[in-house]
Amino acid sequence: MDTKTNQKFLLSVIFLCLYMKTHVCLAADTITANQYLSGDQTIVSAGGVFELGFFKPGNSSNYYIGIWYKKVSVRTVVWVANREQPISDRFSSVLKISDGNLLLFSKSKGSVWSTSATSSTTTSASGSVEAVLLDNGNLVLRADGSSASTKSEPLWQSFDHPADTWLPGSRIGFNKITKQQSQILTSWKNSEDPAPGLFSFELDPKQINSFIIQWNRSQQYWTSGPWDENSDKFRWDPEMTLNDVFNYSYVTNENESYFTYSLYDPKRISRCVMYTSGQIQQLTWLETTSPRQWNLFWSKPKVYAFCGPFSTYNEQSLPLCSCLMGFEPESHRDWSLQDYSGGCSRKTTLQCGNATGTEDRFLEMPSMSLPASVEDKHSSIAYAKQCTSICLSNCFCIAYAYSSTAGCSIWTGDLFGLKQLAPDDGDGRTLYIRLAASEFKNPKSHKRSLVIATVSATAGLLTIIFCYFLWKKTWGKGRKYGAGGGKNDAGLPLYRLRRILAATNNFSEANKLGEGGFGPVYKGILPELQEVAIKRLSKKSGQGHEEFMNELKLIAKLQHTNLVRLLGCCIEKEEMILIYEYMPNRSLDKFLFDPLEKTELDWGKRFRIIEGIAQGLLYIHKYSRLKIIHRDLKASNVLLDGSMNPKISDFGMARIFGMNQTEANTNRVVGTYGYMSPEYALYGHFSEKLDVFSFGVLLLEIVSGKKNASFYRFENSRTLAGWAWELWKEGRGMEVIDESAREACEPHEALKCMHVGFLCVQEDPADRPTMSSVFLMLQGNEAASLPLSKEPAFSMHRNHPRAAVGIPAVTSFSNNEITVSIPEGR
Ligand SMILES: *[C@@H]1O[C@H](CO)[C@@H](O)[C@H](O)[C@H]1NC(C)=O
Ligand SMILES: *[C@@H]1O[C@H](CO)[C@@H](O)[C@H](O)[C@H]1NC(C)=O
Ligand SMILES: *[C@@H]1O[C@H](CO)[C@@H](O)[C@H](O)[C@H]1NC(C)=O
Ligand SMILES: *[C@@H]1O[C@H](CO)[C@@H](O)[C@H](O)[C@H]1NC(C)=O
Ligand SMILES: *[C@@H]1O[C@H](CO)[C@@H](O)[C@H](O)[C@H]1NC(C)=O
Repeated sequence: MDTKTNQKFLLSVIFLCLYMKTHVCLAADTITANQYLSGDQTIVSAGGVFELGFFKPGNSSNYYIGIWYKKVSVRTVVWVANREQPISDRFSSVLKISDGNLLLFSKSKGSVWSTSATSSTTTSASGSVEAVLLDNGNLVLRADGSSASTKSEPLWQSFDHPADTWLPGSRIGFNKITKQQSQILTSWKNSEDPAPGLFSFELDPKQINSFIIQWNRSQQYWTSGPWDENSDKFRWDPEMTLNDVFNYSYVTNENESYFTYSLYDPKRISRCVMYTSGQIQQLTWLETTSPRQWNLFWSKPKVYAFCGPFSTYNEQSLPLCSCLMGFEPESHRDWSLQDYSGGCSRKTTLQCGNATGTEDRFLEMPSMSLPASVEDKHSSIAYAKQCTSICLSNCFCIAYAYSSTAGCSIWTGDLFGLKQLAPDDGDGRTLYIRLAASEFKNPKSHKRSLVIATVSATAGLLTIIFCYFLWKKTWGKGRKYGAGGGKNDAGLPLYRLRRILAATNNFSEANKLGEGGFGPVYKGILPELQEVAIKRLSKKSGQGHEEFMNELKLIAKLQHTNLVRLLGCCIEKEEMILIYEYMPNRSLDKFLFDPLEKTELDWGKRFRIIEGIAQGLLYIHKYSRLKIIHRDLKASNVLLDGSMNPKISDFGMARIFGMNQTEANTNRVVGTYGYMSPEYALYGHFSEKLDVFSFGVLLLEIVSGKKNASFYRFENSRTLAGWAWELWKEGRGMEVIDESAREACEPHEALKCMHVGFLCVQEDPADRPTMSSVFLMLQGNEAASLPLSKEPAFSMHRNHPRAAVGIPAVTSFSNNEITVSIPEGR
């Protein structure tokens, strides 16, 4: 920009200031009739919370009028005035009061944006109106002199015209008189363009006490379900409200209905954003972490919707979105630019209702998360075949899914939010997609299009990886991916990458043992160690350098028969690799939850495994040189050696405690839902009682052969512990025991184990035993001498406020690594 013009302009501004004899050079929270805002001038709310002025998003060359947090060190814009009409000349543009409105005027473009308040009370004299920025982030246009104490309605307020952000105190509502949403959040187009994007968050006009997220204002792909006034939560998404941070409320009267929320602790800084990825995210500013950052509290839906209709999202593969078989990208150009939001379209039209054509068929897609788009439920259908014919007989039906518990679900219209899950993911369902019969006859043409898609996508591979990391850094867990100093301060043997590659046949598929929490695990042969397991930390997985070094240091110092032994490591060329002793029988979950394999586990073996895990935990809590909290104990982290002895693995999440320390807090709650204790999941408090809780859940899984994570599907959303407890109370404890172990078990031993399990999953950490007592109780034979257990945490009771705590654990629908960040309690 020409500096001369700048100076001239500044001079004229100063001149104007003097001329008008007012405090035009704004240091206030108000723009009055005589004042205007230009260039780098801003107004700041009275308490110094929010600031309004011109801003430029990212590297864009466009300027916008926006409101951002004054005190948050990462510039965070919460509202934009001229979303679709950027200006480039901020020094020759002014924001001023004109004809009773706030107006943005640019020298080059003229009138760019205005509040267009239509009020009969304002006179044409603009002197009667002023704009005030309040400490809650609301920009209010009101009659001059009407102070906050006079309760006159504002002529206009930014809270009624939100951009992508829902701030505490503002509303998302529905006007019953005009029958329209009064506020809608719309995502930005991208991080540099605040123009309205494709995703919107609003109330459902068909059911105004629920939120929906839509794509292009037409395709709904997520709903919170209706608000339940009695329990203050959403039916399908109770997690949204169950916390000690946000206080949601729903107000309804004859004119309008709306949701609003406040923060229990008003000093907290928090916002809710319709993000460009298609997720609504609740974020909280953490002043205490380093680096200071926005932490994700929750996001909905968990599946990213940007894959557009008829494409699936698969976080394990690149590109992240791919068209379903029988479909091709709507726009190949967008697809090659990694813009998948347009989705895919059908290659061959369906033959429905056409007697001459052959009948349509269904493509079976296992391990899918079901579409987020609206479905029709036929819960009374008892056979899969019936479900098939219901879909075939309806020309609009394009997909169905069937299960004996949920019945038959049918989808019409575009399919959204499809996600390919790992084959062993307990939440996966089989989805049947309707295709023209001809699609099945010629698999070659399908293959060819797949190759084309792959090739065009590979071109953008690096960009995707880059974006993914950027995303992780910004919205993920705040982890850093350092280059890896290559220093091994754990005293472990270091191996060269060359040797690891030779040992695993270049990480060949044939050597792959499975997918661990943080990356694939391969079998390898090292001449001096014979068989080893090699864990290659994938950079995508989330275990960063920090976790890697953590695991290295911790486990290198641990020596116990019930802990998996670390034999060496390799840090080279961005690779982070751990070498473990080889466990021929892999992990416990492979046996426990597999209908055939579980018969291997008779009662004796199960009891030995329980004892072994207890010993391993007791060692890390009490007898090792360090006091360690594992924080992620679960069936897949217990490995079995050739004689089925259990060994605890995966110390990536573990924390070292001072020997005398008993409790700590964390800003990042990491672990697996279902195994997390309530105090940890909700407040990030953790102590050895967190591991005791996880042990209790695991113990009940071993006894029952049932997966805790699969329990949300069962009646009343209870947990495994809740279900077992009900049976136990009725004296039917034996029914809890896995059928394949029930016959030959020692009833008193099995019931004693269960009893110990219940003691471990009690809600109050103080009620839970330590691992030393657990170990003694398992050894003792006096079941009668065990203390009485209280009801397990997370077993739901209606209208029981504390029970609400359990819902995140049972509704997270995932058995995978989930990292939730929860701000620290004071
Ligand atoms: C903005 O531009 C700078 C310099 O060209 C670059 O380093 C930075 O990554 C860009 N930022 C974004 C968000 O693209
Ligand atoms: C969004 O919907 C409008 C009509 O409602 C349509 O014209 C437009 O093409 C749609 N946009 C996309 C990206 O599909
Ligand atoms: C939650 O919000 C409602 C409505 O604004 C209010 O009446 C209630 O007192 C709040 N609860 C707490 C604990 O702050
Ligand atoms: C609804 O609107 C009418 C007409 O504007 C007004 O008189 C009434 O007070 C409103 N009701 C509520 C609860 O705000
Ligand atoms: C019915 O099938 C014939 C031949 O396959 C095709 O030409 C015609 O367009 C189809 N009609 C409808 C309504 O799909």
